[in-house]
Amino acid sequence: MAHHQINVVLHPLVQHKLTLMRERDRSTKGFRELLNEIGMLLAYEVTRDLPVELVDIETPLQPMKAPKIAGKKLTLAPILRAGVGFLDGMLALMPSARVAHIGLYRDPDTLQAIEYYFKAPQDLTDRTVILVDPMLATGNSACAAAHLLKARGGRDIRFVCLLAAPEGIAHFQAEHPEIPVWTAAIDERLNDHGYIVPGLGDAGDRMFGTK
Ligand code: URA
Repeated sequence: MAHHQINVVLHPLVQHKLTLMRERDRSTKGFRELLNEIGMLLAYEVTRDLPVELVDIETPLQPMKAPKIAGKKLTLAPILRAGVGFLDGMLALMPSARVAHIGLYRDPDTLQAIEYYFKAPQDLTDRTVILVDPMLATGNSACAAAHLLKARGGRDIRFVCLLAAPEGIAHFQAEHPEIPVWTAAIDERLNDHGYIVPGLGDAGDRMFGTK
């Protein structure tokens, strides 16, 4: 089995933007824009090792062999609703990617992930699937989403979040040891309500202005 990897993206642009997002008084507009921008930067990192193949092209001066990304179209898989916040930024870099929507909500009492929607390309076997959700808290949603993608044939799955709690990483690692994770930071812990601290609050509410 491949080794599980946790990749913390320490790029100063990512860290700076994350700090702005954590600030309590950041506007909905600002929060949403920053999430998209970080989405773009994390997309750059998570695709770093995609295989390329040499294809024949002609420049204005002469023919040459030049690299293009090989294989089937990438699939982005946001967990609704907060994962949608990453989507525009990632699609800006991967405009031909397919999108799989995964509807999961957290039962407020048990914190378990409950599925209410799943729509993905029929067969994910040969696709690189980038699962996205800003907050890896308990890990329940991410684990459930990864199971759904695997049931569709997903084999090359990568998980991208903005913030992770150590508890969420441990849970995800235990259930999906072969799926590498990219995050901008690993915070201290979860509080009694399953929120990441210090964190940034409820990512969905902050990006959609629902509180
Ligand atoms: N989901 C959020 O939006 N924030 C947290 O801190 C944890 C889960």
